[in-house]
Amino acid sequence: MPGDFAIGIHDLSVATTQYVLTHDTLAAHNGTDAAKYHRGIGQRSMSVAAADEDIVTMAATAAAPLVARHGGDRIRTIVFATETSVDQAKAAGIHVHSLLGLPSATRVVELKQACYGGTAGLQFAVGLVHRDPSQQVLVIASDVSKYELDSPGEATQGAAAVAMLVGAEPALVRIEDPSGMFTADIMDFWRPNYRTTALVDGHESISAYLQAVEGVWKDYAERDGRTLDEFSAFCYHQPFTKMAHKAHRHLLRHCGYDADEGEIARAVGRTTAYNAEVGNSYTASMYLGLAALLDHADDLTGQTVGFLSYGSGSVAEFFAGTVVPGYRAHLRSAAHRDAIGRRQDIDYAKYREIHEYSFPADGKDHPVPRETTGPYRLAGLSGHKRIYEPR
Ligand code: COA
Repeated sequence: MPGDFAIGIHDLSVATTQYVLTHDTLAAHNGTDAAKYHRGIGQRSMSVAAADEDIVTMAATAAAPLVARHGGDRIRTIVFATETSVDQAKAAGIHVHSLLGLPSATRVVELKQACYGGTAGLQFAVGLVHRDPSQQVLVIASDVSKYELDSPGEATQGAAAVAMLVGAEPALVRIEDPSGMFTADIMDFWRPNYRTTALVDGHESISAYLQAVEGVWKDYAERDGRTLDEFSAFCYHQPFTKMAHKAHRHLLRHCGYDADEGEIARAVGRTTAYNAEVGNSYTASMYLGLAALLDHADDLTGQTVGFLSYGSGSVAEFFAGTVVPGYRAHLRSAAHRDAIGRRQDIDYAKYREIHEYSFPADGKDHPVPRETTGPYRLAGLSGHKRIYEPR
């Protein structure tokens, strides 16, 4: 533990989109056996952003309850992790800072390394709080994952944001030293600047992920990390929820344990409830796994959770977090269930219309239709600027 005080996640809030497309609807369109989606990859439905929603509106929606509960005065830094950035120069977090009315004496920055960026943000936040424990850092992970229509990746699309308040003496989860790290130069998933959809070699990305599982564990063990049996649950990055099972099976076998399916389900099963309904939210995915675990497990007080964050390309990190006594009083379980449950079911035609739409790039005024019933919306584009407003 750095310093003589604990540092970690003080509060955590989840947001997603207005719309949802079920995998039954997708399967009926493309003739796939729905069981491939439900059982094969472990997905039930995917969040779909309305015309006036994006990473900024989801991020502000996730972060607003944190500011409402704790105030914004101690937030000196906002770290916004995403791989669906809306601008090549300006940090998306500045729009969130403005929508939430946070003090001007704030540092705001955007981070990118595929789905790993949220963990980079969390670790940077831990470092900042270590330097000055009176400060809090607002870490936001927000993404809309988009693949080509009728491609294998299409069924793993999704969208969500997780906002975390990181500070000293946290109310939810203490983040521990050491971390195990791993980087390898692999083209398993990427998105060139000129594309709106990601390119992925799905099977290669699964192998790259499993290679990273071995790499982070080796480094973690060499740095005198905990042993496997000290963990009561594992939050993995979940591009699709079955990946958490694959990754944990791989880790158990790598460490010489029996990969008993019941044991794997006990370790990761409680982390998949939100991701199975929301789909891949890239940077937010592992933290949606944490939200599901905290919201669904009976009592995790004092128990240690393993976090395995993977971002294609690739960078991965393994670290431990211990759940703080009294954490249940601070959870937002009902709000999280509501955010997922209130989404409006759309048919395939509406999904396709949204998927194929792209904003005009002519710099003229383009108001965006009112669709979201969330608290913030993208009002339009004007002079190449995105205009956001409370709804
Ligand atoms: N009933 C039950 N299960 C079925 C099934 C059926 N009718 N048909 C297939 N399955 C199972 C397969 O056995 C397989 O399970 P397994 O991996 O445990 O063997 C699973 O469903 C997927 O089938 P597969 O044939 O591999 O599907 P695919 O070629 O369409 O690709 C992905 C699946 C995940 C690779 C693809 O969706 C993808 O590329 N996703 C994006 C990956 C990603 O996001 N990577 C980012 C970095 S992690």
